[in-house]
Amino acid sequence: MKHTRRQFLVHSAVVTAWGLAPSLPLGANIPLLLDESPTAYRFPTLYNGGDVEVAQKNVPVWPETTTDRIVLNSLPLLAFEFEKGSSVSIPIRNQLTSPISIHWHGLDVPSAMDGHPKDAFSAGSTKEYAFAVRNRAGLYFFHSHSHMATAREVYMGLMGLVIVRDQEERQLSLPSGEYELPLVIQDVRVDAAGKVAYSPTMNDMMNGWMGNRVLVNGTPNTIHSVKRGAYRLRIVNASNARVYKLQFSNALPFTIIGTDGGLLEEPAVVTSVQLAPAERLDILVDFSTLAQGEIVRLISAPYTSPVEMMSPLYPQGIALDIMSFIGSVEQGIQYSVPAKLCTLPTVPEVTTTRTFALAMSRGMGMGVRPTINGKTYDIDRVDFQVTGGTYEIWQFQNQENAMSHPMHIHGRQFRVLSRSNGALLPTDKGLKDTVLVGPSETVRVAVQHSEYPGLFLFHCHNLEHEDEGMMQNYTVFVPTGIEEREPTDTMLYPNPTADSFVVQSQALEHGGVTIYDSMGRLVKQLHSMVPGSPISVADLPSATYRVQVGNMDLTLIVRR
Ligand code: C2O
Ligand code: CU
Ligand code: CU
Repeated sequence: MKHTRRQFLVHSAVVTAWGLAPSLPLGANIPLLLDESPTAYRFPTLYNGGDVEVAQKNVPVWPETTTDRIVLNSLPLLAFEFEKGSSVSIPIRNQLTSPISIHWHGLDVPSAMDGHPKDAFSAGSTKEYAFAVRNRAGLYFFHSHSHMATAREVYMGLMGLVIVRDQEERQLSLPSGEYELPLVIQDVRVDAAGKVAYSPTMNDMMNGWMGNRVLVNGTPNTIHSVKRGAYRLRIVNASNARVYKLQFSNALPFTIIGTDGGLLEEPAVVTSVQLAPAERLDILVDFSTLAQGEIVRLISAPYTSPVEMMSPLYPQGIALDIMSFIGSVEQGIQYSVPAKLCTLPTVPEVTTTRTFALAMSRGMGMGVRPTINGKTYDIDRVDFQVTGGTYEIWQFQNQENAMSHPMHIHGRQFRVLSRSNGALLPTDKGLKDTVLVGPSETVRVAVQHSEYPGLFLFHCHNLEHEDEGMMQNYTVFVPTGIEEREPTDTMLYPNPTADSFVVQSQALEHGGVTIYDSMGRLVKQLHSMVPGSPISVADLPSATYRVQVGNMDLTLIVRR
C-alpha cells in the first residue's frame, strides 16, 4: 500500500519541484526505474579540520523512514581536497563497536598509513592518518579495510572522497565549482520499507553483493538541474561488486578525460563506458542540447554477462537508473577540450613478470572460495617481496569463464599493457590502480613499486571476494641508496636500514630542516644542510613526524 502511495508522490513531486512534467527520454526501451520521490543532488561536504567521527546511525535516506548507515561526521558524503606536495594529517575516531582500518585508495602512502587490516584501531579510539600527498591531480577515495568486514562496512557507508589538485590540471581550466559534480555511485538492495541491510547468502559471497537501486553521494533517485553548457562529472564506483555500463538515456556522447590516476593523455569521445568497482572516471558532458524541463538519465545500460552456476538476485548487466539531469533555460559555460591533456611518463622496458591465477576453488566443505594462485588470504602470511622503485609486469590470469575480477594494487598507479580478450579500453590508457579482468581473460600491467618500505596488499575489489580471501600480502624492500632518483624534486627517502633519511632540495641550504611530532611540538631543528646529506633520526622514537623543508611539508615515519 505504502509503496503505491510513494509511486504516486513521485510524479507530483517532480511537477511541484520543477513545475514541469518529466519528459520521457528517447531510447524508451530502457525502463524508467524511478518510482520514488526524486531528491536533489548533494555536493559532498569538504573536510575542514578536526576529528572525523565514524559512527553507525539511523539517517534519512528514503522518504518517510530512516536507514541504518555508517556515517562520517553525520554527513551523507565527506570529501578531502588535497594539494599535491602538501602533507596532511587526519584524526579518525572510531565510534563503532569493532576495530576499523581506513585505506586511502589510489594514494601512494607509507605502509603504516595504508589501512592494512593488521593496523586496525579499536572501538572508542582515534587514529591519526598522516602522509605526504605524492599523487597527481585526480579523484581518489578512502574506505574501510577492516579484516573480513570491508564489504559490510563499505556497503553501509564507511567511505568518502579524496580530490587531489595540482598545477598541471589547473592549467586546463576545466569546468569547476557548480560545474564540477563528484558522483559516488553505490548500488544497494532496498526493500519496500527502505531498509538496506547487508545479509549476503552463499550465492552473494560467490557473485558479490549486488543491489536494485543506486545511491549517488548517499542519495537515491538523485536529480540535478543543469544549465546549458559543459559539466565535469567525476565518478567513483563505490559498489561492492556491480560493474556499470554507463551511458545517458538519450545516448548523449561524452568525453572521457581521466581515469583512476588522473588525466588521460588524450580525450576519448564515447557514448558508453564500463566502470568496475573502485574504478574512477572523469568525463565532460555538454547539456546544451537539453530543452528546458527535459530529463536525461545517467543509467547503467543492460548488458549480457555470463552467469556462474547460481544466478544472483540482481545480476551483473541489469538496467539501473543512476541519476537524472533536468535542463534549464540558464546559460552555463562553454568548454572546448584540448586534443592533448597531458604527457604521461613512458614505461621502460620491463622484464620481470609475476603471474597471478584467479580462480574460484570448489573445495569440499568450504563452499566456493575465490583464490589467487590457489591460496586464500592469510593476514600473517607474506606472499612475496618486491624491490622498492623497480618496475614489474603483473599478469592477471582469470581462470573462470563466467566471472570478472576488478584487480587492485595498493598505492600504485600502473599502466595496462594488454588484454587477451581484445583491444585496450579508452580508460586503460591512463594511470590505473584497478583493472577489470574479464572472463577467461589475461590482463598484463606494468607497475612501479613504492618507495615506501613495508607491507602492502593487492586484491580483487569485488568486496565479497576480498573478504573471502582473494587478496595477498606483499612487502616492499627498499635498498639504501634510492636517493639518486628525481634529484631535483623535494623528496624524502626513508631509509629502513639506517637511522637517517635524505632530503633532496635546494631549500635545505637556506631554511634547513625542522621536525615536529604529531602534536605539532618541535623535536629537532637543523640549519643549513647540504642537499643529499643524511639527517640522523636515531634519537627519535617510533612515530609519525612532520618534516618541514623550506615551505614544503613532508611526512616521516620512524619504525623500530
Ligand atoms: Cu580500495 Cu584494498 O582497496
Ligand atoms: Cu587501495
Ligand atoms: Cu574477484
